[in-house]
Amino acid sequence: MKASITTNAKFQIAPIDDRIYGSFLEHLGRAIYEGIYEPGHPSSNEQGFRTDVLDIIRDLQVPVIRYPGGNYVSAFKWEDSVGPRELRPKRLDLAWRTIETNQFGIAEFHDWCQQANTAYMMAINLGSRGIEDARNLLEYCNDNSGAAWGDLRKQHGYPEPFNIRMWCLGNEMDGPWQVGHKTAYEYGRLANETAKTYLKFDEDLELIVCGSSNDKMATYPEWEAEVLDQSYESVDYISLHKYWNNYPKDTLSYLASHYELDEYISTVRSVIRYIKAKKRAKNDVYICFDEWNPWYHTNKRDHELLKAWNWPEAPHLFEDPYNLEDALLVGTVINSFIRNADIVKIACMAQLVNVIAPISTEKGGAVWKQTIFYPYYLASKYGRGTALQAQVASPTYDCTIRDQASYLDTSVVLNEELQEISVFCVNKHPDQALHAEISLENFSELSGLEHICLTGPDRYLTNTAQQPDRVVPQLLEPPKVNQTQSTVSLPLLSFNVLRYRYQG
Ligand code: AHR
Repeated sequence: MKASITTNAKFQIAPIDDRIYGSFLEHLGRAIYEGIYEPGHPSSNEQGFRTDVLDIIRDLQVPVIRYPGGNYVSAFKWEDSVGPRELRPKRLDLAWRTIETNQFGIAEFHDWCQQANTAYMMAINLGSRGIEDARNLLEYCNDNSGAAWGDLRKQHGYPEPFNIRMWCLGNEMDGPWQVGHKTAYEYGRLANETAKTYLKFDEDLELIVCGSSNDKMATYPEWEAEVLDQSYESVDYISLHKYWNNYPKDTLSYLASHYELDEYISTVRSVIRYIKAKKRAKNDVYICFDEWNPWYHTNKRDHELLKAWNWPEAPHLFEDPYNLEDALLVGTVINSFIRNADIVKIACMAQLVNVIAPISTEKGGAVWKQTIFYPYYLASKYGRGTALQAQVASPTYDCTIRDQASYLDTSVVLNEELQEISVFCVNKHPDQALHAEISLENFSELSGLEHICLTGPDRYLTNTAQQPDRVVPQLLEPPKVNQTQSTVSLPLLSFNVLRYRYQG
């Protein structure tokens, strides 16, 4: 089957904010304990951080990580997680019905971020708590004036402020499941007053207000309109979340989910514009898509388990074994973020280790990469620069998401510094390769560098601790180039990175 992609050096959408390759770590299951922190593990350093996991995260070049929740944050008492470890109380985590030992807390995460080469994005509790506690936390982390909360941090062994720049004002406050769930008006007012308090301390902080938990919420998109009506001029981003599943085992509908994602982003973009105009505001608000991923392989079973269990510590929870088609879905989601680079400035794959994650660990044992690791890794590595528009002509199919869905999903990134172009392509066709003609206009002396391809003999194939390399990228023949035209063959059910170099 034939397809074509046309792009042009001059058709630039926007610079891509590197932070679209961010991630998320929550006190949930084994994300922290046995994930990134495991004193006694053969690879752990003197702080108990697993260096085998750190090595992979550094290589992934994750620019920002959101912490400590998630639903967990909405009943989190941050004071429990600082100071001498032996004095830290154990607490019930109401979100996941577990015991939280607080042996890893907000200061340890600061140290860990430095070792992981990433920026700390802190989510605050606007569920069970309010402005006073949020303000104390900010001062504990960032103040250096000699006042009490900053001094407490110093007493705890951290003379220098953490200088955290990005703050999420609560989590999924539209969700009835959330501790301290609020109406859009109640939340918008609280978020605005908290933001104003934060800006009195430091007017350059980047503040993120909660949008919808997903685009199927009954309150969406009125939630965004009301929350921004209350807070627009105090915040920089509105956060969106979305998780996907393929319960019906309908690959083609699953892989068309990005159409709904594009629509979700486009709707919220319009709401932002509407509120900006309504308020005659001067500032711009962008989208921070701070939770996204497939999430379904163990979800229903684990939700039943947690209703019945007796408050365990760091149990196995939501450890999805991801397959090839999940990796392709991840490729289409990242393509959508790149195509929307003018409005989506931060995105966090949820999560990073063990819990709905691209990286998995065994207690005392191995670390391995799930299938979804690879499109994330390849986009983080080759998807930095400027997003280019692409005109795509492809055969189509009808499915439950829409009619005439394209078999080919694409985004294009120009890296002017390296004089390179990356074309990311997902071929969703279940039994045919796509032969794509790629026109790269207004680039001279073009050459094909690499064709990196992630595919496999079976769409349900997963990687495991015992067989970690069943679904891994392979190098195919580099793309052939004739002047500005290139021809490539995209294998059935594959994620591809086509890399080119140009001279001017
Ligand atoms: O990432 C898992 C959970 O999904 C988060 O705690 C919550 O914000 C979302 O519902």
